[in-house]
Amino acid sequence: MKIARFSRIGFIMAAAGSAVGLGNIWKFPYITGEYGGGAFVLIYLVTVLLIGFSIMIAEMLIGYLGRADTVSSFENLAPTRKHLWKFGGFQSLAGLFVMIYYSVVIGWIFHYIVSALFGLPSSVDEAKTVFSTMLHSDFKTQLFYHTLSFLIVTFVIARGIKGGIEKLNMVLMPMLFIIVGVMFLYATTLDGFHKAVEFMFKPDFSKINSTAFVTAVGHAFFTLSLGMGSIMTYSASLEKNANLVKSSIIVVILDTAIALFAGLMLFTFLYEYGGQPSSGPGLVFISLPSVFYQMGMLGNIFAVMFFVSLAFAGLTSAVSLVEPMVQYFIDRFSWGRKKASVMTSLFFYIVGIVAILSHIDGYSSYLTWGSRNFFDWADFLTAAFMLPVGGLIMSVFVGYVLPKSQVEKVLRPQLGRTFEVWYFSLRYIAPVSLVIVMLNLVGVL
Ligand code: TRP
Repeated sequence: MKIARFSRIGFIMAAAGSAVGLGNIWKFPYITGEYGGGAFVLIYLVTVLLIGFSIMIAEMLIGYLGRADTVSSFENLAPTRKHLWKFGGFQSLAGLFVMIYYSVVIGWIFHYIVSALFGLPSSVDEAKTVFSTMLHSDFKTQLFYHTLSFLIVTFVIARGIKGGIEKLNMVLMPMLFIIVGVMFLYATTLDGFHKAVEFMFKPDFSKINSTAFVTAVGHAFFTLSLGMGSIMTYSASLEKNANLVKSSIIVVILDTAIALFAGLMLFTFLYEYGGQPSSGPGLVFISLPSVFYQMGMLGNIFAVMFFVSLAFAGLTSAVSLVEPMVQYFIDRFSWGRKKASVMTSLFFYIVGIVAILSHIDGYSSYLTWGSRNFFDWADFLTAAFMLPVGGLIMSVFVGYVLPKSQVEKVLRPQLGRTFEVWYFSLRYIAPVSLVIVMLNLVGVL
């Protein structure tokens, strides 16, 4: 159906670009901080290995065999009840829901790159004021940069798989690795590094409650880009005979490594300069800038480098969040790529403006329900609910609905004897854990 295919390395970069995102550098450190460190990291790592990895292979397999947008892939592959299974593909809508707040955060990052060029806040209090002024009263700045993020994402996607998505990832991802690598190496030379290692790897289970558990499992999905068709859509453009298992291993390793490196680096800086690990979503926007200020000139350079790397990570993921629906409109409605890109992006752009408003004084009270405003609901419902549901659908589909022989034909040569281990994990461990997470969620809500 499609002609443009990823090159082998292009696919790995794009899949890694999707996985490595704000989730790794912005979210992972702050939720680790909020839920007390080591034990949380442990649950996250176990989930990534036991469930994330199995579902990554399953999601790639659906795309690889289906060769089309997510809806058509489910429909093509389902042996019976095609009209029902095709709804599995509508999980892709979750990507647009994620984008509602994701694009806004990328906007904050753009704003922070520009501000870091001109100077940094000299104390945590000042940094707090700067962030909360932007968040609660500066609608125009947020709108401006959210618009910029929308324009870049739309432009890249409109250029297609090869000329847009692959190119973006081939350029930005290596730069991201270098920036994070350099900053991480510097962090290892500081005294705070040991404290950071201890914080992240010494489990204290007293800090774990059901919210922490649900958050850790939800995050494992989120960070690997699982459960909504990003990986599936990219895999539909894989060349024949591609090695799904090898690609999954590389993507999982890169994603985990970047999260751990970013976490260790941030916590080192915080410990070294007296910041707080548990400062919530403002961690990289409040604690970090004031820490960078204390580093002097180097801190200024680091601040710009850091926010640039964050922007790169965010953009490569954003593209993968939108592409599944774009592909859907191209395949099912025969829209041109340009039209599909613009129409799809307009959705998250417009609803994203509501997410901005949900923080703005005077509007936020109308856009808050329970303990969360619109922005937070978009985050919570996607990560804690939609992605696990998507993961469940995929694991059931590949584990029970696709004939085993079809699955085995592709994956046995790649997995060898571990095929049975993978199949078991996909059929039993993954769905059971996901159901537990969802039941837990009912309590959490
Ligand atoms: N994984 C990305 C991050 O960590 C976000 C992302 C991109 C994503 N595509 C996805 C999350 C698909 C869930 C599903 O920031």
